[in-house]
Amino acid sequence: MSETRSSKTEAVRRLGVRYPIVQGPFGGGLSSTRLAATVSNLGGLGSYGAYSLTPDEIFQVAKELRSLTSNPFALNLWVSDHDPGGLELSPEEFDRVYALFEPYYRELGVEKPERPQRYAQKFEEQVEALLEARPPVFSFVFGVPSAPLLAECRRRGIVTIGAATSIAEAQALDGAGVDLIVATGFEAGGHRPSFLARAEDSLMGTLALTPLVADRVKAPVIAAGGIGDGRGIRAVLTLGAQAAQLGTAFLACEESGASPEHRAALFSDQSQRTALTRAFSGRLARGLRNRWSDEMGPRVPELPPFPILGWFASKLKPAALAAGRTDLVSLWSGQIAPNLRHRTAPALMESLVRELEQP
Ligand SMILES: Cc1cc2nc3c(=O)[nH]c(=O)nc-3n(C[C@H](O)[C@H](O)[C@H](O)COP(=O)(O)O)c2cc1C
Repeated sequence: MSETRSSKTEAVRRLGVRYPIVQGPFGGGLSSTRLAATVSNLGGLGSYGAYSLTPDEIFQVAKELRSLTSNPFALNLWVSDHDPGGLELSPEEFDRVYALFEPYYRELGVEKPERPQRYAQKFEEQVEALLEARPPVFSFVFGVPSAPLLAECRRRGIVTIGAATSIAEAQALDGAGVDLIVATGFEAGGHRPSFLARAEDSLMGTLALTPLVADRVKAPVIAAGGIGDGRGIRAVLTLGAQAAQLGTAFLACEESGASPEHRAALFSDQSQRTALTRAFSGRLARGLRNRWSDEMGPRVPELPPFPILGWFASKLKPAALAAGRTDLVSLWSGQIAPNLRHRTAPALMESLVRELEQP
C-alpha cells in the first residue's frame, strides 16, 4: 500500500503509524490480539480493550501483541470503574437485585450466582500492570487520569489518547496534557464515555463534535462514531480531525472477539435498529435493539448501577449463546452497521486505504 496524502498528519506522527486509521478498542472480551495485531501490521493503530482484564491478563496481552507485531498498538482502560452504589451489595441487597433478573436466569437454565468479592476490575490495579507492560499507546475512556499517572506515561514514552463526548470534556483532557483526543459522536457503537455530564446530556453527533473540538484543543483529534469506509474518514479529516477511529466495522470482522451470532446480527436487517440504553451494563451504550433492551430499558431506574447491572446481565451470556439466542445478550453496534461490507480485517483495511487515497 502506498503512502496517502492524509498520512502526514501530526496524529499519525505521534502514534507512529502509517495511516490515519485507528481500530477502536472493545471492552468486555470482544477485543482480540489477532485483530489488533493485524491492523497494526497493516499500518493502522490496532487497539485492545483491557477493561475487563486482571492485571496479570493485561501483562499477558501486551506480551502477546508484541510477539504478533513490531508496530505500535494501544491498550485501553476505563478510568472510572464504578458509578455511585456500584461497588458492593449486602447479602440482602444481592438477593433483592437477583430477584429482578431471576426470570431470565430461569428461562436460560442459569443457576443463581454466588455473591462476588467484587463486580469488576479496579482501574488503579490495572493501570499499574499497564505501566509495567509499557504499551506504545494507552487509550482510555470515562475520565482523565491523574497528573502523576499522565507524567509517568510520558516518562515511559507511552502516548496517551483520551475520549471526549463534549467540548468541555475535550478541554479537560487537553488541559491535562493528554497527547491525542478522540471526539466520540453519538453514532458510535458501545458505551458513551461521558464523564463530566450525564451521557444522556452529551449526545452530540460526529459531524458537529469533530470541528467543535478540533477548533478548541491543542492535541490532534481522532474522530469516532459512524465512520465505516474511506468516505467517512475523508469527511472527518475535512472537519479537522487528524485520524479516524472505527469500531463497529472492525467488530464485524472475523478476527474480533464477537460471537458468530453477534456478527451475523450486524450483517442482518436487525442492524438498522440500534438503541442507546443503560439496560446491559448500567451505563449508556449503543447496541442492536432486542428483547433485553426493550424489556429492561424501561426498568433501568429499579436496576442496580454500573458495573453491578452488567455483572448480572453478563452471567446469562454463555448460556444464551450456547442456545444460539441473541435476544437476551448485548449486541453492541454503531449506527453505520447496515453499510458494512467487509468480513476480514485485511479486506477492510485494504478498502479503507484505497478509498482514502482516491483523488
Ligand atoms: C463492542 C464495543 C465495545 C467497545 N468498548 C470500548 C472500550 O472498552 N473502550 C473504548 O475506548 N471504546 C470502546 N468502544 C468504542 C470504540 O472503540 C469506537 O470508538 C467506536 O466503536 C467508534 O464508533 P463506530 O462503532 O460507529 O465505528 C467500543 C465499541 C464497541 C462497538
